[in-house]
Amino acid sequence: MSKIHLVSGGCGFVGRNMVRRLLNTTQDKVFMIDDLSIGRHPSEWFEGYEAEKLDDIEVIGAEKRLYFWKGDFRNLLFYMRENPRYIQDRYHIDFDRFSDVFHFAAIVGGRMKIEGDPMIVALDLSIDAEFFFWVTQHKPERVLYPSSSAAYPVSLQSTDYAIALSEGDIDFNKNLGTPDMTYGWSKLTGEFLAQIAAKHYGVRVVCIRPFSGYGEDQELSYPVPAIAARAAGKEDPFEVWGSGKQGRDFVHIDDVIDFIFILMDQITDGSAYNIGSGKLTSFLELIEIFGEIAGYKPTVKPLLDKPVGVHSRYANMEYVTNKFGWTPKISVREGMERVYNKQVERIHREQK
Ligand SMILES: NC(=O)c1ccc[n+]([C@@H]2O[C@H](COP(=O)([O-])OP(=O)(O)OC[C@H]3O[C@@H](n4cnc5c(N)ncnc54)[C@H](O)[C@@H]3O)[C@@H](O)[C@H]2O)c1
Repeated sequence: MSKIHLVSGGCGFVGRNMVRRLLNTTQDKVFMIDDLSIGRHPSEWFEGYEAEKLDDIEVIGAEKRLYFWKGDFRNLLFYMRENPRYIQDRYHIDFDRFSDVFHFAAIVGGRMKIEGDPMIVALDLSIDAEFFFWVTQHKPERVLYPSSSAAYPVSLQSTDYAIALSEGDIDFNKNLGTPDMTYGWSKLTGEFLAQIAAKHYGVRVVCIRPFSGYGEDQELSYPVPAIAARAAGKEDPFEVWGSGKQGRDFVHIDDVIDFIFILMDQITDGSAYNIGSGKLTSFLELIEIFGEIAGYKPTVKPLLDKPVGVHSRYANMEYVTNKFGWTPKISVREGMERVYNKQVERIHREQK
């Protein structure tokens, strides 16, 4: 029997990249879930898209290895709570339990949503609670829970005091500090549930704390592709949210996915690991990089009424490097070039 993996939020940015990786590097099947609230339908991103209907789901690709269940993950979790073999029975898919489960379904959004509509983001708490309950019943072989650097205390990321954030800065046996808005709270709670699932229910699970993941096919509502697109259009003056001095730790999605598999092979107890480069890049520096790539030097126009979040958020990668010998392969410059080229291609396509 071939393996079958589950990817929730599979039509979102990280999910799409994971689904492609699984299908390209294994012969396994993937059961993908997304309500398309943010995610894009596979016809927009699955190379060689073709689909067959199977009851109310789609079976995608010539090899028919990708199943797409469209809807709120909580509904599917509810059906599986009522009947643990709901998927097997309804869709006649023959498997005992899922092998790897990647839980990317979440209300994420950029700074606008995190600060502008915190209560909708708080719904992540309900998605994650239902998810972990199911996981403890179903007992998949391995589980990946994406937490976030937003789980770290905001007090360590301010203008006056900012440090490279280390795994030990979150310790459930000590004071936790206040994470970043409802988004950070849900991620911190998710990590706690992951540890409970491992310790009390024997589930094999690992958490990741990605810093600012970016990539070629990320939505334009995120800063990296948005800045790349504006640089491609030679925007001048170049608008930046806030002063532009605020900084983040940018890490390319291919590196994120690489490291996820290393972690899933080695970690079982629900503990959490940084995924970043360890370098702080301010938005002013990012604009400079894109200016260089585009071949011009714009003047910068700060938009002081826009939400900017914490001042400096970057990873201390020492623990990860020592424990796993892992560092990202794609430099910020190379990654930004890739994003820029994709935006140029898109703009040309749209102008035709
Ligand atoms: N992208 C990053 O750099 C980054 C950094 C830290 C953490 N993460 C975490 O990784 C995960 C994926 O992030 P992303 O950047 O791909 O976000 P995304 O918004 O692109 O993807 C999330 C997907 O979940 C779907 N979704 C939302 N609610 C759903 C529900 N109730 N049922 C089914 N589908 C639902 C959306 O339609 C979307 O496709 C999130 O948990 C996020 O917090 C991402």
